[in-house]
Amino acid sequence: MDVKIIILVLVSLFYKANGAIYELSVADEQIFRSCPNPEPGTLDIHGLFDLSEFSASMDADGLTVSGNQTLLWDIQRGDRVQLSIKLFYFDRGTWTSTPFSIYSKDFCKTMYDKSNILYEPWTGHVINDVKDLCINAPGTKLILETYFLSLSASVIAPLREGRYKATIIFRAFDSKGTERPTRICCEVVGDVFKIRN
Ligand SMILES: *[C@@H]1O[C@H](CO)[C@@H](O)[C@H](O)[C@H]1NC(C)=O
Repeated sequence: MDVKIIILVLVSLFYKANGAIYELSVADEQIFRSCPNPEPGTLDIHGLFDLSEFSASMDADGLTVSGNQTLLWDIQRGDRVQLSIKLFYFDRGTWTSTPFSIYSKDFCKTMYDKSNILYEPWTGHVINDVKDLCINAPGTKLILETYFLSLSASVIAPLREGRYKATIIFRAFDSKGTERPTRICCEVVGDVFKIRN
């Protein structure tokens, strides 16, 4: 799961077609940052996964991803998991909202479906038999095939070049609808620039 990819997937989801080619370069080698000023109980990517068997290496064309992700988030099987992803643009020193956002009320229902926004960059590359489990099953190991995520995407609408960030938040709710005490928040920051028309 890669930041630039999420940004590009988001962008191409809204503006599918053959247009100018844009490229994203991600600001951090680590890809996922912690969210600034988190509310109490907020964990970052390391609260979601043990990434000690996971690796992602970046080169000029994209990202090569491989290894395993073991789920750590201390919630319960059967919990409903809500996902929201919002894209922000860095405008004159301030992060401003963009029209790009994704909200999934029940992420677990579609975690492994092709329609899921995270399928192409992430869940579509899980190769072991864990598809009946969601991210609400701590201890589950997701084994990933080695795959390549390209850093360029074609979008039809003119996209403002510059710095973007995607804020990704997972929240979990028990069967009564009460939110669990912890949530996951992480950000991917990257620069989008046009490479050709
Ligand atoms: C991923 O998990 C499998 C099964 O437990 C293991 O055989 C493999 O060595 C792990 N990969 C890495 C990179 O640790």
